[in-house]
Amino acid sequence: MGDEIKEYISKEKLSGIVKRVAREIVRDAEDGEILLLTVMNGALPFSRDLRREIEGLGRKVRDYSIKVKSYEGMKSGDLTFEGVEENFSGRDIYIVEDIVDSGRTMDFLINYLLKEKGAQSVKVVSLLSKPSKREVDVPIDYLGIEIEDKFVIGYGLDYDGKYRELDFIGVLGEG
Ligand code: IMP
Ligand code: MG
Repeated sequence: MGDEIKEYISKEKLSGIVKRVAREIVRDAEDGEILLLTVMNGALPFSRDLRREIEGLGRKVRDYSIKVKSYEGMKSGDLTFEGVEENFSGRDIYIVEDIVDSGRTMDFLINYLLKEKGAQSVKVVSLLSKPSKREVDVPIDYLGIEIEDKFVIGYGLDYDGKYRELDFIGVLGEG
């Protein structure tokens, strides 16, 4: 309702980022299927575009999803989590995330996959990172772009369920 949205990362820039990240993953990945685990719902557009690029580079992709929710409004809250049924034992997993903020979601997921799901390795692929907000140090193996301490929306990122559908990343209000 009349919220002002300012463009922060354009659609064209996002597309360039996705292509670059896909090339980096393909460059490094072992032979065989590349297994993506998408953190729902925010990382869905990123993951979908990433998958298309990776396949365009001639690699097979399999993707799974996991739902982790940590935000109410603009504040980080407790994690709500639905596990995955698949057994990842011996597999190399690429977690695909929209943004690493405090780092708590990634820290939790990395441990879950390694300790409870038997993954052989876990790599973090994140479109965005807000290092100024970090509380837990987590490795980001493939990063799209680092951003300032702003609450961003669009390209999957929401503010209370809104604005996910934008094809660019924006900031609300005066930003
Ligand atoms: P973390 O556990 O604090 O790193 O939280 C990461 C999650 O919080 C992300 O997956 C997002 O869903 C959400 N989040 C963090 N910052 C933003 C933002 O600026 N806009 C929208 N969602 C955000
Ligand atoms: Mg997320």
